[in-house]
Amino acid sequence: MNLLIADNYDEMSRMAAEILINEVKANPSIVLGLATGSTPVGMYKQLIQDHRSNGTDYSQVQTVNLDEYIGLEKTDPNSYFRFMQENLFKFINIAEEKRHIPNGTAVDPHAEAERYDHLVQQLGGIDLQVLGIGQNGHIGFNEPGTPFSIRTHIVNLADSTRRANARFFDKFEQVPEHAITMGIANILESRHILLLASGASKADSIKRLMEGDISEIFPASALKLHKNATIIADQQALQLTQIK
Ligand code: GLP
Repeated sequence: MNLLIADNYDEMSRMAAEILINEVKANPSIVLGLATGSTPVGMYKQLIQDHRSNGTDYSQVQTVNLDEYIGLEKTDPNSYFRFMQENLFKFINIAEEKRHIPNGTAVDPHAEAERYDHLVQQLGGIDLQVLGIGQNGHIGFNEPGTPFSIRTHIVNLADSTRRANARFFDKFEQVPEHAITMGIANILESRHILLLASGASKADSIKRLMEGDISEIFPASALKLHKNATIIADQQALQLTQIK
C-alpha cells in the first residue's frame, strides 16, 4: 500500500480529486467505483468545481457504486441513489445510463446482487475504486468476518455500523438492517484502489490497517493483498500510526 499524507480533510479531498481527474483524462471511458459516506463528499465537491472551471468530460465514464441499503426507495433521502444524485450526479456530465447503483428495492435482493456482479464484469471490471473505511474496518458494507473471496452479496449490517450511520436518520430504528454490497473480491479486482480516511474517529482503523496483520476480521486489511492500493489519510486519522 502506498500512503499519501494530507494535512486535513480539504487537502485529502483535493489530492484524491486530482488522482481521479488525471485517471479520467488518461482514460475517458474509465470505469469508476464510487463510495458514499461523509468521507468522499469533499472529493466530489472538487470534481464538480473542476468540471465547471476546466470542463473535465465524464460523458464516456461508467460508474458503479459499492453498495445500497435494502428497503429504501431511490427517492429516500438516505438511499445511496439519492446521495449520489445530490453530491455528484446532478452536477457533472456522467450519462444517466452509465451510472450504476445496486437496486435496494428489488423484489429478489439475491438475484439483484447477482445481476450487479455480472454488470461489473461486463463493464470489464473497475479501473479506479474509491473507498472510505468504517470504524470497524469495513469497506463497502463488508463487515468484519467477511471472506475475502466473496462477490456482490447481501449483508446483515453490524450494530456498530448502523449506529455510526444513524446520524443521517431521524432515529436508529430507521437505519436499514440489510444492504447489498460489492464483495471484497470485486474490490480487489479493481486496477487501482484509493482509500480515503479523515479525522480522529478513523485513527484506530487506520493504525490497524497500516500496522496490523491481514485478516478477515479486519476487512480493509485485504488491501494489503493488492498491488496498486493508495491510502490518503489526514493527520488526525494518522495520529495513532507510527509513520516510518
Ligand atoms: C458506510 C459506507 C461505506 C463508508 C463508511 C464510512 O457504511 N457503506 O462505504 O466507507 O460508511 O463512512 P464515513 O465516510 O461517513 O465515515
